[in-house]
Amino acid sequence: MKHFLLIFQLLLTGTFTIAQIRLPYQNAKLPIDQRVKDIVSRMTLAEKVGQLNQLNGGVFTGPAVNDNGQKQKMQMAKEGKVGSMLNVIGTTETRAIQQIAMQSRLGIPLLFAYDVIHGYKTIFPIPLAEACSWDLNQIQLNSSIAASEASAAGIHWTFAPMCDISNDPRWGRVMEGAGEDPYYGALVAAARVKGFQGNLNDNKHLMACVKHFAAYGAVEAGREYNQVDISRVLLWNKYLPPYKAAVDAGAATVMNAFNVFEGVPVSGNKYLVTDILRKKWGFKGFLVSDWASFKEMIAHGYAADEKDAALKAFEAGSEMDMESQVTIKYLAELVKEGKVSVQQLDASVGKILYFKFKLGLFDDPYKYCDTARESNEIFTAENKLVARKAAQASIVLLKNENKVLPVATGKKIALVGFFANSPNDLLDFWIAQGKATDAVTLYDGLKNKYANISFSNGYLSDCTTNDSLIAAAVAQAATAEVVFVNIGISGVYGGEERSLAYPQISNGQIQLLKALKKTGKPIVALVSSGRPLILTEAEPLVDGIVQCWILGTEHGNAIADIVSGAYNPSGKTVMSFPYAIGQIPVYYNHFNTGRPDSTNGNLSWNSRYRDIPNEPLYPFGYGLSYSTFGYSDFNISKTVISKTDQLNVQVTINNTSNLTGEEVVQLYIRDYAASVIRPVKELKGFQKISLKPGEKRKINFVLTAKELSFFDAAGNIVFESGKFAVFVGGNSKEVMQLDFEVK
Ligand code: NOJ
Repeated sequence: MKHFLLIFQLLLTGTFTIAQIRLPYQNAKLPIDQRVKDIVSRMTLAEKVGQLNQLNGGVFTGPAVNDNGQKQKMQMAKEGKVGSMLNVIGTTETRAIQQIAMQSRLGIPLLFAYDVIHGYKTIFPIPLAEACSWDLNQIQLNSSIAASEASAAGIHWTFAPMCDISNDPRWGRVMEGAGEDPYYGALVAAARVKGFQGNLNDNKHLMACVKHFAAYGAVEAGREYNQVDISRVLLWNKYLPPYKAAVDAGAATVMNAFNVFEGVPVSGNKYLVTDILRKKWGFKGFLVSDWASFKEMIAHGYAADEKDAALKAFEAGSEMDMESQVTIKYLAELVKEGKVSVQQLDASVGKILYFKFKLGLFDDPYKYCDTARESNEIFTAENKLVARKAAQASIVLLKNENKVLPVATGKKIALVGFFANSPNDLLDFWIAQGKATDAVTLYDGLKNKYANISFSNGYLSDCTTNDSLIAAAVAQAATAEVVFVNIGISGVYGGEERSLAYPQISNGQIQLLKALKKTGKPIVALVSSGRPLILTEAEPLVDGIVQCWILGTEHGNAIADIVSGAYNPSGKTVMSFPYAIGQIPVYYNHFNTGRPDSTNGNLSWNSRYRDIPNEPLYPFGYGLSYSTFGYSDFNISKTVISKTDQLNVQVTINNTSNLTGEEVVQLYIRDYAASVIRPVKELKGFQKISLKPGEKRKINFVLTAKELSFFDAAGNIVFESGKFAVFVGGNSKEVMQLDFEVK
């Protein structure tokens, strides 16, 4: 019956003839590999190249290149010259365009792709914030909800997760990743892939796309699209682990980065794409370029013209061409000239078609066009509840002098700060179909908790201020019991092409804080930003600092939950907060240098700044709770182990407060001497635990060869004997230390 209906439907849309329906690739009972082989054998050269062509079909998320309008694109789809479209959304649009593609000679469905980065319509915290929860189950759940909403709107494929390690808050895209640590970044990347993809056997998940492969997070000076110049040792140890973990988690696709590596743009970089991704890692999915990155090899100075760009990309192992159309224009010609092999082309086309079969699109091209799901399963109360939980867990409490927080809901509050009441500054660049007007502002969130609250702007939308705004804020503060000041930068400064030379609190906001401080009232700074800002000047002016990030749909409610004490903060930052701009990049897992900075007062001839400390203001892993925790009974099972042994590490955590709270217990190691130098600390384990007042818990960690080894420049795993340190603590700085030896 099901098959009959399908045949009937296909005949109705004029897609198939009866004869075609009997072809092996149309037979849902055959194994996918057989169906792929069959269809590839029937395709013309032009149709094969068409599968490698991805065109934009909606809002532009990059510069218009070769764009000849929607009419021409539809004609190309009808002729089988398009394999995928991005930015087409909604069941009506995707169905209409799919119907056109199904009129192509072989009836090959399109893949619809979209940047579903942290939610589709229910928007979750930005990925950087979400990572501060250290809760991999929550992270996976968030991605799976994003996938379920997007798939209900016709989308098959998300361009996420972004797996770029970065320690440069000047770069606007730090908001899309999981921070500065490769070990944690790898775990988060895998959780996100699992959440987005499930096992791709229903219509509630999306294909994931590991991006931006590779090392895009190392862009020089934090300037978007800039060059990358790093060693292979750094590449392997610091930048590759999250991409690798995402590939191992089964990600269907990988996206080329915009940057160069060793002087060769990634899209044309055989070492990265073929040698590492395909050969060393055995990646079975397919590659998509970043927006026009094939063509951009001309501007980079690597390809002479469009044809050369098409050749160099394909030769390197890159496959689908997003938006630059150099592949559709020149690849067939290159095959005819014998410069590109048909076998290589068939292999790439086969991989793309494999996923179209896997998603079930050959059997039902409209499988993701379920209007009932689109109306009932998007932006639901249940999804918003999860988003609120995720947002609560993302917030990081940085300062809480004299227990200024939590503030009882009966108190009289003065809320100051333009952003607190500005929906347009609430969400970031990657909000898919999220609407600022659907999100809860800070002011609204606080009003839901505090009956006695007043508001004033304090500064203007550009973060400058003036005497009258300050006077109004001061007058308002004078009559309040506690002052909440929303400082930071607009959410719209988070994301692509949003590099900032000054990731800091504006002069206007500092002026405002100084004036408020004079009132003598307790002041809590609520910092919204898509990156760690420099808080050094603001810090002494306030009693409390809450790093709120950009939290999505439930922004205001989640912050209100924290400041009122309805939720006990548990987030820990996954990026260091620089002390000053001149320090950037500053990160916990740095190298020691030959002249490490001394803390014993002997400061001569050391690796240090003369005007500021080397240390960041807040280190990686830092975050306070309303509870307090004691660490004791730290011990290791042996002081000497063999290479096949495991080391058991134990520590006892005690909740020394009268409040139930969560703590992220972190374990770091240091390899003192190795054939290539190793960082002064490397995260190698963590556990997030909840403890009742007075409760004590013994925690066990295990260190094995896996945690104690590293990569050499050729990407080989190396485990060397020698002296190591193991550290345990509640952040990367305040730790206990024990040494051991591997013999
Ligand atoms: C360019 C961005 O770098 C990438 O992350 C995104 O997925 C594509 N544009 C498509 O919007």
